[in-house]
Amino acid sequence: MIKDRPGFDLLSEERIKAALKTDLLGNRVYAFWSVGSTNEFAYRRALQGDLEGVLVIAEQQTKGKGRKSRDWDSPFYKGLWFSLILRPDIQSSQAGLLPYLAGVSVAEAVENLLKLTPDLKWPNDLLFQGKKFCGILSEVEFENGKVKFIILGIGINVNQKPDEFPEQYQHQATSLRQNYNSRIDRAELLAEVLYCLEQNYKSIATYGLNEIVSKWKKRCPQFGKEIVIMQDDVQVQGQFVDIDDNGCLILQTESGATKKIVAGDIRF
Ligand code: BTN
Repeated sequence: MIKDRPGFDLLSEERIKAALKTDLLGNRVYAFWSVGSTNEFAYRRALQGDLEGVLVIAEQQTKGKGRKSRDWDSPFYKGLWFSLILRPDIQSSQAGLLPYLAGVSVAEAVENLLKLTPDLKWPNDLLFQGKKFCGILSEVEFENGKVKFIILGIGINVNQKPDEFPEQYQHQATSLRQNYNSRIDRAELLAEVLYCLEQNYKSIATYGLNEIVSKWKKRCPQFGKEIVIMQDDVQVQGQFVDIDDNGCLILQTESGATKKIVAGDIRF
């Protein structure tokens, strides 16, 4: 599985299809050498009627998007930069729960393949020792109070060495390779992530999305603890007591009151 050799490890459509072990996710693959953003491309395809399960992946993104209009550094060959089109039969209000599905699934895949246990950090980062290696960006289209489609965008830093991150991110970013101490086969990792995602996605029909959120909470070290959340320049403090049915973080402040947090960043 793991190859510690130099050279290219190109994610061609053929290679991806050969590695996949899913029925739904990756039923159609758009594999790009370079694209602006896989999320943008997938969103356009979904608007044009592409079906659930479509995978859009690129060796490089020139305009990789992060949360809050941040950039997502997506250099050639080093990571997994991909988006999936999902068309879940859920209410608009539940759309905020879907990213938790992605976070849990990436964590499970990393654990299965590399025997490493990453931490989840709200709203949806994956980390090792406080350094981020994976981020998730979901974008949703609504219709008549329901989700028409959701684009789940996942960025995983796989094979970067420490000095291969832009200088301004070096103190806060890491890759799987840095924690596994060996080069990782990206096709195999992708296949495992999609496998875990598909299992969890299918389980929603039986167990609902709350089951996924329960799994997520168990993997989040800050859950139940006192935390500080930054919302732009405003700081909110309290105990992280729950995630509600819409995916919002519930904070219990010193006065005992609860506060619903829709967006923000937990400060370490
Ligand atoms: C974040 O943590 O801010 C979210 C980062 C999400 C990055 C991924 S990479 C694939 C997909 N395409 C994008 O433009 N963004 C997401």
